[in-house]
Amino acid sequence: MEFESLDDFLSHSQNRVEQYLNTAIKQRRASGVLSQAMAYSAVQGGKRVRAALVYGGARACGVDHACLDPLAAAVEAMHAYSLIHDDLPAMDDDALRRGQPSCHIAFDEATAILAGDALQALAFELVADGQGPHLNATQCLAMVSCLANAAGANGMVAGQMLDMAAEKDAVSLAQLETLHRLKTGALIVASVELGALAQAEVDDLQVQKLRDYAQAIGLAFQVQDDILDIESDTQTLGKAQGSDLLNDKSTYPALLGMTQAKQRLTELHQQATEALSDFGPVAAPLVWLADFIVSRQH
Ligand code: IPE
Ligand code: IPE
Ligand code: MG
Ligand code: MG
Ligand code: MG
Repeated sequence: MEFESLDDFLSHSQNRVEQYLNTAIKQRRASGVLSQAMAYSAVQGGKRVRAALVYGGARACGVDHACLDPLAAAVEAMHAYSLIHDDLPAMDDDALRRGQPSCHIAFDEATAILAGDALQALAFELVADGQGPHLNATQCLAMVSCLANAAGANGMVAGQMLDMAAEKDAVSLAQLETLHRLKTGALIVASVELGALAQAEVDDLQVQKLRDYAQAIGLAFQVQDDILDIESDTQTLGKAQGSDLLNDKSTYPALLGMTQAKQRLTELHQQATEALSDFGPVAAPLVWLADFIVSRQH
């Protein structure tokens, strides 16, 4: 399938991943409320950038097959879990997410914690069960390992821990970069890598270039998120604008000022597109996604 634009590619990715996730959640033997809370947070809304990065990474390596759907669903389930827990009173204490009450407000805290736990487990299950005519067991194992590394104490959870520790504290730019690369960058890198790993004969140099691309946009994603917390509004964001200021978070604009934060974004965008220079037209969706990540308004 050929794509004309980012909108075309994103809406195709959104439709595929939401349909797959919805069915996967309904098939689980969860009680009514748990299943409702999982679907509430994982299936409705969201830009689906991480799913699109799975499809885009795979496409850059010559793969486009239904075997990608559980992988895209896995990264979005992992992401949804991280957002549910991120909004809890013990963390950012945010009441609005994707334009709706956060999971712990719509349900209750215990249900939100458990829906997050179940979505995290679902993510691994989807990847581990992804074996079929187009994905062999070795590939699935490498993908489980990649996702675990990105999500846990080597990645997102470590980043969230640093984020909480850095509230009200001055951190160095190097520390802030590490924090952002872990809490947000790691899952974004894993999304592109999962797509690349769907190609059994993928070449190491190609994977390295895709990783360079993903590391740059992964950091850029959080820098833009920090900027939007200041410059956007709650209605557009679908989450509370000003939450970082209220929680005294360490962010790029807080540390560098807005002008330099935006300059950093431009540099990262350039690094990302340079990393793709040898791929040609198959990497067009990844280029569009890089453009979107640094210019998005929500
Ligand atoms: C928000 O991610 C959390 C961050 C890592 C900054 P997104 O901006 O991708 O949120 P959704 O999925 O579109 O709601
Ligand atoms: C969240 O970062 C990163 C996660 C791992 C969820 P933020 O706390 O900045 O995300 P938002 O702004 O609430 O979406
Ligand atoms: Mg947070
Ligand atoms: Mg937050
Ligand atoms: Mg934020």
